[in-house]
Amino acid sequence: MKRIITLLFCLCGFGIINVASQTVTEEDFISNLLKQMTLDEKIGQLAQYTYRGNFTGPDGANIPKEEYVKQGKIGSMLNVTGIKEIHRFQELALQSRLRIPLIFGLDVIHGYRTCFPIPLAEAASFDLAMIEETARYNAMESAADGLNWIFGPMVDISWDARWGRVMEGAGEDPYYGSRVAEARVKGIQGNNLADTATVMACIKHFAGYGAPTAGKEYNSVDMSLGQFANFYMPTYHAAIKAGAATVMSAFNDFNNIPSTANDFLLNRLLKQQWGFKGFVVSDYNSVEELVNHRYAYDKKDAAAKALNAGLDMEMVSTCYLTYLKELIQEGKVKEKTLDNAVRRILEKKQELGLFEDPFRYCNPARSAKILNSPEIRNASLRMAERSIVLLENKQSVLPLTSQVKSVALIGGLSKSQNDMAGAWAATTDRSKIITLYDALLQKGLEVNYADGYDLKSNRMTDLQKTLQAARTSDIVLVAVGERANQSGEKAAKVDISIPEEQQRLVSELKKTGKPVVVLVMCGRPVIFNEIKEKADAVLCTWWLGSEAGNAICNVLWGTYNPSAKLPMTFPAHVGQIPIYYQYKSTGRPTSLKQTYTASYIDYSTEPAYPFGYGLSYTTFGYSDLNVLPGKSPDIHAEVSVKVTNQGQRTGEEIVQLYVQDKVASVTRPIKELKGIQKIQMEPGESKTVTFPITNEALGFYDNEMNYKVEPGEFIFMVGGSSNNLQQITFTLK
Ligand code: NOJ
Repeated sequence: MKRIITLLFCLCGFGIINVASQTVTEEDFISNLLKQMTLDEKIGQLAQYTYRGNFTGPDGANIPKEEYVKQGKIGSMLNVTGIKEIHRFQELALQSRLRIPLIFGLDVIHGYRTCFPIPLAEAASFDLAMIEETARYNAMESAADGLNWIFGPMVDISWDARWGRVMEGAGEDPYYGSRVAEARVKGIQGNNLADTATVMACIKHFAGYGAPTAGKEYNSVDMSLGQFANFYMPTYHAAIKAGAATVMSAFNDFNNIPSTANDFLLNRLLKQQWGFKGFVVSDYNSVEELVNHRYAYDKKDAAAKALNAGLDMEMVSTCYLTYLKELIQEGKVKEKTLDNAVRRILEKKQELGLFEDPFRYCNPARSAKILNSPEIRNASLRMAERSIVLLENKQSVLPLTSQVKSVALIGGLSKSQNDMAGAWAATTDRSKIITLYDALLQKGLEVNYADGYDLKSNRMTDLQKTLQAARTSDIVLVAVGERANQSGEKAAKVDISIPEEQQRLVSELKKTGKPVVVLVMCGRPVIFNEIKEKADAVLCTWWLGSEAGNAICNVLWGTYNPSAKLPMTFPAHVGQIPIYYQYKSTGRPTSLKQTYTASYIDYSTEPAYPFGYGLSYTTFGYSDLNVLPGKSPDIHAEVSVKVTNQGQRTGEEIVQLYVQDKVASVTRPIKELKGIQKIQMEPGESKTVTFPITNEALGFYDNEMNYKVEPGEFIFMVGGSSNNLQQITFTLK
């Protein structure tokens, strides 16, 4: 903050500070500005208001938005889209006394105009460079259309697929989730917030939002601090270390205090301990909702509790706007606390370059060049291919060959642009989404389409027509799963099974004797045991965005050899949830053979598909697992393994390293992911992969949240899935 800058333009052009043109530090600039601000103007900076619609919550108070912006009573707007409207609001802000520009934020979760695969699907790629690339394009398109802040990435870890928002995260694992969080932050923000191809990221939802009791949306979260520190906290921390500019507080309570007014989370952990310099925004209406939590008596009390706990900006509800002045006059909130929050927000406005040029994101020529550009669509296709997980491929029915001339395509999901976009795609150009149906036709195939089942009731429709389509085709492709609005926010479910009649339809189709390939379209892990048993091949295609159809075809015909792995365990029964690979031993470790162990009497404890699982059209062999001494003081050892492509096709493998701490001063999981490497190999080729073993691979947080590395024995496990690993022991002296 001590950088020297020349504020010639803003001093003369916008008249923000009453001093002559001179060279000032950024800090001086903000301090000077703060000195000139009235209490009302300061409070205004803390208010974020929504323009249109109640996208994710109740309507806000009916305030005259435009008028408030003109009076400097609003610091940021959300849900204003398009250069024209953003320009109009910014002009209004510049009519205020101090001409402080607005920040414009929006939920850009998997693409702005071009639609990318949903974040959970992207996570399945285990391709961090590609994840960073799509995040960069998200930001680029958003910035090209006037925005300077996106509410993402969501970095909440979840072990509960009933919670619909798992679609927006990177799955269940804190190590991998942290790497994805870093990649997304870097992609969104680049190296310089003032670059007009980047925007501010917002890490959400701080904290623990992915662990709502019983998977119920917005529900309470209760966990020990040791559990939080080891499994849920690392992704937030990694994102902050990667430089995330803002953080959103979660709707839920955490340790019996709502996150939005949680002094431990916001003031102590985030700002003091981690040194976070950006600002914290509440979730939609969540300051006012402190009253519903029965943590605040009324909205005034809510305002005091939130600001005192370190919540800088209030989204949509107007507790700060209405009561902060009174609270300061009554001494219930210190003006210094208000100043700190205002300073954090102004600093970001400055880093975005908004004081220099409030309209820097509003350039129609740039917008026309970037939105929906072929380069960005191409990235969407590459990402979509890398996101598809091959779950079953019995008798190597896939890839299809050029002998396949006719296809029975069953299921309305395969034709639905809306569903292929996935949830959270409000600004996507849906008319440009290539469905599977479109892509098959473009390939010049004979497509015998039948709905198969009704998309609303999920009951089978006209079975004879469906079977006839199958009988007259070389191959049957069946699209099953969820609709886009059945995952995402407010889409928690008690049953994540694919509807019974969709599954039975696959069994009926199988009776025709034709090869049946099932495409599971979903925004979360789903359960489909009947399909698993009956189908010849199963691909999890999630919701893949603009290039969905082309990507699925490329995988079906082997133009792209699938490489994705599951970032989240797929349960076999809903009663197994929460289910995750990194469970603990317990005093009576789970055993398939013995009773009186951690298990169920009516069902297996095994998932349908474990974390890290996914097939390829080739196979990979693992050999020569070895541990060598580390070559530098911070690397305790190096684990190496030889991986060989044993099949006939070029393929990519995601090599995974897991660690078990054999005995520790707190109970530890049976295995934890501590390294991934994605490698490509020609048929017959071998590569040696090496993983450095650092403190991060061996340590853990104790119950007081201190990080520890304890000497003793560790087991290193390496392989291509969490349930198929080779192991070797290592002793840390
Ligand atoms: C509520 C969601 O929880 C959050 O993720 C989103 O960014 C806000 N609404 C704004 O739409």
